[in-house]
Amino acid sequence: MASSINLQNVALRRTAGEIRQFPSDPIPQIALSGRSNVGKSSLINAILGRKSMARVSSSPGKTITVNFYEVDKKLFLVDLPGYGFAKRPKEDQIKWQTLTDGFFTKNPNLDRLAAVAQLVDSRIGLTEDDCAMVDYLRAAGIPYFVIATKVDKLNATERKANLDAIASHPVLDEGTVVIPFSALKNEGRDEVLRQIGLMTGVRMSK
Ligand code: GTP
Ligand code: MG
Repeated sequence: MASSINLQNVALRRTAGEIRQFPSDPIPQIALSGRSNVGKSSLINAILGRKSMARVSSSPGKTITVNFYEVDKKLFLVDLPGYGFAKRPKEDQIKWQTLTDGFFTKNPNLDRLAAVAQLVDSRIGLTEDDCAMVDYLRAAGIPYFVIATKVDKLNATERKANLDAIASHPVLDEGTVVIPFSALKNEGRDEVLRQIGLMTGVRMSK
């Protein structure tokens, strides 16, 4: 039987500022999408059990690159640049658009993309930009699931109401998997790993 993945064996394989820098390794990819500051880099650190593998930004939206984390040479976690950062200068906005569009439309390895993990801030719910992203994924036929981040910031009542609102949001396909997540409390880690395993076919645990 194939051995399960070694989550300790991680490397930031590529920081791509241009489409031609995307790696072409024949292993599945899971891309993390979401607005700037939603917690994409924190989630990567939390699920890999590393404090600072992925840079957690104090000033959001600064770096506009697609970061490929190679996990045990078996899969890539792809940290996409966050969107919706209002204070971003125009030229950065264009760069973001070109790179992100390129990832989905001009990427020669798009067939390796097993799924997109769409991160949504559990306090805010789906923003207009989140909905545009999900619309795009649906139209393109790219599998996706939702991770509701920062649930530690909600009390029990808010948590139920907000998670229900996200799960029943009309933009999502019925039955879309929604995983409550907290990088701070390390909640939802097993569920996220299980989902990644399901989408990629990579054995994530014993
Ligand atoms: P960009 O790289 O700008 O796209 O942002 P990002 O989506 O990678 O967000 P990042 O992981 O850098 O987190 C943004 C801020 O939210 C940081 O201050 C984190 O400490 C905080 N944060 C992330 N996840 C959690 C969480 O689960 N709980 C709480 N309370 N804070 C979190
Ligand atoms: Mg980040």
